[in-house]
Amino acid sequence: MDHRVTTQRHGTTRTCVGPGRVNLIGDHTDYNGGRALPMAIDLGVTVTFAASGADRIEVTSEAYPGEAAAFPVVTDADRVTGLEPAWAGLCAAVASLARPATGGAVHIASTVPRGSGLSSSAALAVALADVFGVEGDALVVARLCQAAEHRIGVPVGIIDPLVCAGGHAGHALWIDTATESTRQVPVPSGAEFTVVDSGQRRDLRTSPYALRVAECEAAAAVVGPLGLAGPADLPALRDPLLRRRARHVIGECERVDAFAGALAGGRLEAAGALMDASHLSLAEDFEATTPEVDDLVADLRSRPGVLGVRMTGAGWGGCVVALGEPGALDPTGLDPPAWRVTPVDGTVARRNR
Ligand code: GLA
Repeated sequence: MDHRVTTQRHGTTRTCVGPGRVNLIGDHTDYNGGRALPMAIDLGVTVTFAASGADRIEVTSEAYPGEAAAFPVVTDADRVTGLEPAWAGLCAAVASLARPATGGAVHIASTVPRGSGLSSSAALAVALADVFGVEGDALVVARLCQAAEHRIGVPVGIIDPLVCAGGHAGHALWIDTATESTRQVPVPSGAEFTVVDSGQRRDLRTSPYALRVAECEAAAAVVGPLGLAGPADLPALRDPLLRRRARHVIGECERVDAFAGALAGGRLEAAGALMDASHLSLAEDFEATTPEVDDLVADLRSRPGVLGVRMTGAGWGGCVVALGEPGALDPTGLDPPAWRVTPVDGTVARRNR
């Protein structure tokens, strides 16, 4: 099913597939005014909204049979937190901002594993925004989806909904969160990206994500936004922990720019080396990995033809992404679940085709 609007006898049914995303490089930079390079992928969340004229929205999910949630079409910010089941909270938060013209039935089906670092929640949010009739470019949609996450208490940055809405087939999206500017970066056909699931699940609400945001804010109070800072600013940070967090963000932004150039230029060994350096920095300076994720990265990295491997997304479990020469990794032959991922259009890019 693709991006589709059909009119039925009793109202309008609209279906949208929000793509998941893999961040190729640039993690924990977006809430620091830094840069990142994610791509929208061919795993997605399908949302169907059958508008009924009712004043309530009912939500069901294929993944949770027997569970359902309902909330008024016009929901104020206070009423989206604590909604049960928890996955329905994001639906209520998006609805509270998107303000669909009428209530109805929302149904969710997903091929994006939840809590795996492939942005199942941004995929869901952009698809909801679309079926609820939000107009505008990818940045408009992304800001609304980010605000919805904030309403349910998750202080995420903007890269996930921005690429899920605004990615282009065959491209990764270079994002500068300081200026909210983007650039499509072509992914050469010889670059094969494989996502491998460590199987370790995490929830951003209970992970150290918010703590890292706070640590980066504490560092920024001394040297300014970390995404705009440079190595020369590091000595001003006297607290060694904050200095390490800042060193990750500063180095990661430089790696994003270098990686975008290497990828577009087909210099895949250089791109792979930057992914390796990114993982090391996330493991040692940012402490966003786990022993299981580090072991999986080391295992994949030791295989012939694999050029670079790193954690992707928030970390503390979830998926890793490997760059390999064609055929280096066979997802069907790997023990943990794995996918060969190719860049697809985001919801807004598809709408505008
Ligand atoms: C999560 C957040 C993003 C970003 C990444 C880490 O995916 O939703 O905004 O902060 O973690 O790079």
